[in-house]
Amino acid sequence: MPSTQTQIAGFSFDNCLMNAAGVACMSIAELEEVKNSAAGSFVTKTATLEPRAGNPEPRYRNVPLGSINSMGLPNHGIDYYLDYLLDLQNREPNRTFFLSLVGMSPSETHTLLRKVEESGFSGLTELNLSCPNVPGKPQIAYDFETTEKILGDAFAYFSKPLGIKLPPYFDIVHFDQAAAIFNKFPLKFVNCVNSIGNGLYVEDEAVIIRPKNGFGGIGGEYIKPTALANVHAFCQRLNPSIQIIGTGGVLTGRDVFEHILCGASMVQVGTTLHKEGVPAFTRITEELKAIMAEKGYEALDDFRGKLKYLD
Ligand code: DHB
Repeated sequence: MPSTQTQIAGFSFDNCLMNAAGVACMSIAELEEVKNSAAGSFVTKTATLEPRAGNPEPRYRNVPLGSINSMGLPNHGIDYYLDYLLDLQNREPNRTFFLSLVGMSPSETHTLLRKVEESGFSGLTELNLSCPNVPGKPQIAYDFETTEKILGDAFAYFSKPLGIKLPPYFDIVHFDQAAAIFNKFPLKFVNCVNSIGNGLYVEDEAVIIRPKNGFGGIGGEYIKPTALANVHAFCQRLNPSIQIIGTGGVLTGRDVFEHILCGASMVQVGTTLHKEGVPAFTRITEELKAIMAEKGYEALDDFRGKLKYLD
């Protein structure tokens, strides 16, 4: 039986699949459901210092080829997630989970990271540099100067394992510039990709979500080629000590196989999890194992990053 076990930053996970931040991770009940599924871990909804209600509804819609959302960072605040994770560490000492966070300003981001640093949290922290949905706040990771400053300031005091969630990049020069910055820091992982920001979906004569007159982040089937390109571009450019989490367009085991082939060590499921619920983890894992068995692969290491080129 092939194994889908994996490791990130030296922590082991029984399965390489988990939720993508934003899906099934706002409340403790949702997080427990992912934890008790076939998923190898979970990531919490990106937390800010204070709880936030987010944007007006409707703010998420599934559509035939994916989803569009402009949630606006609704979350219960960092203490809710940190307290839960600290409790979970006692109940499940042999498993590792991810805490996602970002401040509404660089100074708030540092307040959050210092809180994590000073807490007993021993899992992985994901700094979200790619929220596209707060009106008036551009995505941090599209501003390379601000990104480098935040990471430089953070690593002056943050000593726990840290990774970043990235938006998709669309230009080879941007892959080069972003990777050159990330390689300056002891990041444990980069997560590629967040939604393709600010798409617009039209039904009859109208938009389908209320915030930002219908503009929202696109997920699902639409984004797999962009996600794979970002996973592979960073796989080619980053220091081997920086691992890659692949996110975007995962509907089937074949999609997970492709993410791993492009260099991912863990793979997240967003829109498909929203559409199908946690049974998606069992189905997709079985599909991945069937592909591995057919190809004679016993472990993810047998094909991770081994994408073939045409001459
Ligand atoms: C939200 C969306 C994102 O893609 C993200 O990374 C963080 C927050 C949101 O709208 O809530």
